[in-house]
Amino acid sequence: MAIRTIIEPFRIKSIEAIRGTTREERQRLIEAAGYNLFLVPAEAILIDLLTDSGTSAMSTEQWAAMMRGDESYAGSSSFDRFRASVQGIFGFRHVIPTHQGRAAERILFTVMCKKGDVVPNNTHFDTTRANCEYAGAEALDLPIPEAKEPARVLPFKGNMDTARLAETIARVGAKRIPLVMLTVTNNSGGGQPVSMANIRAVKEICGWHGIPLYIDACRFAENAWFIKTREAGYAEKAPRAIAQEMFSLADGCTMSAKKDGLANIGGFLCTNDDALARQEKDLLILTEGFPTYGGLAGRDLEAIAVGLNEALEEEYLKYRIASTAFLGNHIASEGVPIMQPPGGHAIYLDARAFLPHIPPEQFPGVALAVELYLEGGIRSVEIGRLMFGEHATMDLVRLAIPRRVYTQSHIEYVVEVILDVWRRRGKIRGYEVTQQAPFLRHFTARLRPLAG
Ligand code: F0G
Repeated sequence: MAIRTIIEPFRIKSIEAIRGTTREERQRLIEAAGYNLFLVPAEAILIDLLTDSGTSAMSTEQWAAMMRGDESYAGSSSFDRFRASVQGIFGFRHVIPTHQGRAAERILFTVMCKKGDVVPNNTHFDTTRANCEYAGAEALDLPIPEAKEPARVLPFKGNMDTARLAETIARVGAKRIPLVMLTVTNNSGGGQPVSMANIRAVKEICGWHGIPLYIDACRFAENAWFIKTREAGYAEKAPRAIAQEMFSLADGCTMSAKKDGLANIGGFLCTNDDALARQEKDLLILTEGFPTYGGLAGRDLEAIAVGLNEALEEEYLKYRIASTAFLGNHIASEGVPIMQPPGGHAIYLDARAFLPHIPPEQFPGVALAVELYLEGGIRSVEIGRLMFGEHATMDLVRLAIPRRVYTQSHIEYVVEVILDVWRRRGKIRGYEVTQQAPFLRHFTARLRPLAG
């Protein structure tokens, strides 16, 4: 019989110690942090699932490539290798390096949008929305309706609602829609993938009206893997060929290399439009740097050039998606409510269903995140009432899995901690805010538990 265990397709050459703390220490630390996990020192975290962004472990090949980094201000050979790697997968004519994803977004929207414009997306990530609005445009989310039902299982829950896209274009007029975006995978919608059929359908609608399609490509390799394993006709195709097909349907992309670039910093902006590229490079020079480094060191460009290709390796993607699914399926089988099905980079706990006795105004997501820290030193992030205020339609707790960092026993530990908290959920209390900033309050807010 064939062996079925999926293993980490690497061995560990360099390790970073993680420190356990006692429950009393954690109690003191979280109190001192105003019950906000952003304010707890990373050294006091055992398993850090705050984000999968910039937290990947690099490979020996990436470290070796970094030694080749050409730090020339202009015309660096590292840029040539970076551009060749990006073009080999993404295929666009112009490749503009940036220090991270949001810098690519700022440049794109500054050049393409004006006041009164509308930019549809399956779901804008927060920085994408903020940069779009900062340029004066409206950031419009058009996910399929099922995306808002946490328990609903669908293979491509990240898809855009194409009927609403067509309606929006008819209502607003193509002149006021400078571009349409698709975020793969859909982070804010639970790390859910977008199908090739949906990308093709969106492109077709855009094509009728002459509207360019851009892909927010942060987790493109994970999306390609879901297409391979879930969409008819792709089982025999390599993730790289699938990614190439995805981007062949788009006119450009923004990318945070901190995700599927397997790098700790970096990003890029791509386009096929020569005139736009010229304007984008002018803006790049103003705030990021010369177009052959864009705010990155030559060695960062090298790490990304290698990382993009490693992220498309089948053995890596198989392990990556299996690891996230193991966490999600295991806790769900014990009754823990999660956003279904398990996403690519993260598991989202449904805190309203987990703690039905805590009303949204008492921050069930914060309450759950605090308990996971107290119980096992795990750091997660609330995506709900604290982050979005009264606009929040859900209270979720995201457990984002850094790439190639944690092993199966770490994941098993996380499962055990969540199940322990699940068993005593009835005793968990809500919170109130004692101090907050006028915007983006979740980063710095201080809270206190309500009396039981
Ligand atoms: N788009 C998506 C879909 C993202 O998830 C992120 C970052 C960005 C754009 C911005 O990229 O951070 O390099 O500027 N997401 C991180 C997260 C921060 O934790 O999900 P960036």
